[in-house]
Amino acid sequence: MEKKQRESWGSRLGFIMAAAGSAVGLGNIWRFPYMAGTNGGSAFIIIYLAFALIIGISVMIGEFAIGRRTQLAAVGAYKAINKNWTFAGVLGVISAFFIMGFYPVVGGWASAYILKSFTGLLSNPAAIGDAFGAFITSAVEPSIWLIIFLAANIIIVAKGVSGGIEKAGKILMPTLFGLLILIAIRSVTLEGAGGGLEFLFKPDFSEVTGQTLLAALGQAFFSLSLGMGCMMTYGSYLNKSENLPSNALIVTLLDTGVALLAGIAIFPALFAFGVEPAVGAGLVFVVVPQIFAQMGTLGIIFSALFFIALTVAALTSSVSLLEVVVAYLMDQRGWERKKSVYAAGGVMAILSVLSSLSMGVMSGFTVLGVGIFDFFDILTDKIFLAIGGMLLAIFIGWFVKREDLEDELTNGGTIKFGLFNAWYALMKYVIPLAVLVVAVMGILSIEQTGLMIFGLAVIAVLALFSKKL
Ligand code: PHE
Repeated sequence: MEKKQRESWGSRLGFIMAAAGSAVGLGNIWRFPYMAGTNGGSAFIIIYLAFALIIGISVMIGEFAIGRRTQLAAVGAYKAINKNWTFAGVLGVISAFFIMGFYPVVGGWASAYILKSFTGLLSNPAAIGDAFGAFITSAVEPSIWLIIFLAANIIIVAKGVSGGIEKAGKILMPTLFGLLILIAIRSVTLEGAGGGLEFLFKPDFSEVTGQTLLAALGQAFFSLSLGMGCMMTYGSYLNKSENLPSNALIVTLLDTGVALLAGIAIFPALFAFGVEPAVGAGLVFVVVPQIFAQMGTLGIIFSALFFIALTVAALTSSVSLLEVVVAYLMDQRGWERKKSVYAAGGVMAILSVLSSLSMGVMSGFTVLGVGIFDFFDILTDKIFLAIGGMLLAIFIGWFVKREDLEDELTNGGTIKFGLFNAWYALMKYVIPLAVLVVAVMGILSIEQTGLMIFGLAVIAVLALFSKKL
């Protein structure tokens, strides 16, 4: 059989927009503010930034390198280099399914709120919190929205790498940046906004615990789309003349920049209107409309714009999660792109509807002590991604030839990567140790012990049967 030419990105900008599109998502705009809010604000933010800029960037360079070197998505890439490591790729595909078991639910909420901004949501500010609660706990409405959201994913990914994913990223990402900057300016110019800026930028490290560290590490991995083969998959479509370290730097800076921008858009307004920062997962959906409700007609427009931005950001990320599974089915199982997209999308629809129902009618049903939505969320964010990132670092530091890495990162010696030695030492020693310490401290202090043990057991079983995968 003749080998088909691998799909590839059409341009450098297209790749950066797609990779930044994957990174920038609900993680930055929905999760980052409430994680910062519930973990004490600025100390959490500084730790998160340190993790993102040291560990995150290094792991991203590693994922790009392995993906482009092997020209294969996660599972195939590990397998091609060392069969004992196939499991690390499989763990990534499982993570993709699990994240897509809750991500479309929130993506659906965001899409619904575009419309709701116009249909009276803002007219009664006092009822916004209850309206959100009623909406997400109902059975049918959020399910319909998540299916619409998933359908958009399926359409984009079915069109392929450069025709679908890259085009969408190139249009949607700049739109998002523009909108966020606009909202941030509005927010910091409100009277009383100073408290929010202080909350964001004046650290108090006395409240930092093992939990905070794990939350910040998980957030760094989640937000940068690392630890589950996503950037590896995107790297596999990258041409040999691209500078991998500099691309990783750009993507990381864009991603952390957007997270901070989202913080600046939300917290000053929050303080200006006297709302509690620690309200949790509903933060964006409850607080943002409440903020805009006090601004009249202009508020309706800002609110709609905000939720368009959130939907857009979510879409360019979920597309990359779907692509991880699709690329696996194409590379390892030889399936056609369309068939892979429909099959993977179908499974994700079922998981997401269950997650959505777990907010309401199925709230009594728990797995290892948590509802289905939290099961997928906690398991990926608190265990799978961090361990996935650690496995990648160990793999690169100890199981890939140093010369091969240097060759890949310098494009065969044609470009310079001055920090190669530092990067290599980070991957080989520092990152595995750092992640291990943080993970142990965090896991020990976490309430859901059953869930943690389950997660670790899944990884152990996969590792044992690696050669059979
Ligand atoms: N980085 C995305 C976000 O911040 C989520 C994501 C995680 C995407 C893992 C791909 C892989 O929302």
